[in-house]
Amino acid sequence: MDMSSTLALSPQSTSEQSEDAARSVKPILRFDRVGLEYDGRDVLKELSFSVNRGEVITVLGPSGCGKTTMLNIVAGFLQPSSGIALVNDREIAGPGPDRGVVFQSYALFDWMTVEDNIAFSLRCSGKNRSQQNAVAKDVAKLVGLQGFEKSYPYQLSGGMRQRCGLARVLAANPSVMLMDEPFAAVDVQTRETLQEEILRIKTETKCTIIFITHSIDEAVFLADRIFLMRKGRLGAFDEFTVNLPEPRGSSENRLHPEFLSVREQIYRAMRADAS
Ligand SMILES: Nc1ncnc2c1ncn2[C@@H]1O[C@H](COP(=O)(O)OP(=O)(O)OP(=O)(O)O)[C@@H](O)[C@H]1O
Ligand SMILES: [Mg+2]
Repeated sequence: MDMSSTLALSPQSTSEQSEDAARSVKPILRFDRVGLEYDGRDVLKELSFSVNRGEVITVLGPSGCGKTTMLNIVAGFLQPSSGIALVNDREIAGPGPDRGVVFQSYALFDWMTVEDNIAFSLRCSGKNRSQQNAVAKDVAKLVGLQGFEKSYPYQLSGGMRQRCGLARVLAANPSVMLMDEPFAAVDVQTRETLQEEILRIKTETKCTIIFITHSIDEAVFLADRIFLMRKGRLGAFDEFTVNLPEPRGSSENRLHPEFLSVREQIYRAMRADAS
């Protein structure tokens, strides 16, 4: 689908393209010895990693190990107690339109239609009302909600509401999407469809994704790399690379030997942690 009229900007000059090429080899996100404490208690300590532009990172780990805390630092909702967190080589000083957060709860406005919910994130974008509506229509189509633009959230299923929440974040065209267990509340089939959609959308928008989940299958299916945070290790993590064939969103990948092999490695690591 052609998003050029709405989401993307005008055609790029050669110098802009070479700037893009230079940027693409640099990490979009970097944590350098980040620590975070709540009330004098360390939750994350000396956490370092970098994420490349266009990568999908999934984060697994037991409840309370600091996954949401880490995501909140990237989103700019929390400041590190020590170390530095950077997006595009700039220290993260607060929330910004370059980072969109998709929460587990749908976070929709019940009194607004799907279209208005999606357009809401464009209110400060400088786009006029009809441009906002055009983007909302395109994004609704991108997430498979075409035909439901005039519906209200109560008229949608759980999976459709989650799509609408996703669309609202996508409309702002963020370069980094932060997703905290976004599909935990939907049934298995819808969840698998949404995972496949996420990878399709990622291919179209070229965004970078950090995705927290408790599902090993979801983590392996989506990821280029998996960060497995461990109990009592204050945010330290083991890393697994996933080399599944393209197109990454193909449901056949769920049966691929690489999928099964990485899933087993993670399962064993988690079980060792639990014992
Ligand atoms: N606002 C807060 N004040 C004090 N402690 C907090 C606060 N938010 C989180 N914590 C603590 O920080 C730790 C990490 O919490 P966090 O929410 O990051 O875990 P999580 O890995 O996302 O867990 P879950 O899988 O259950 O969502 C927990 O011990 C939690 O109790
Ligand atoms: Mg959490």
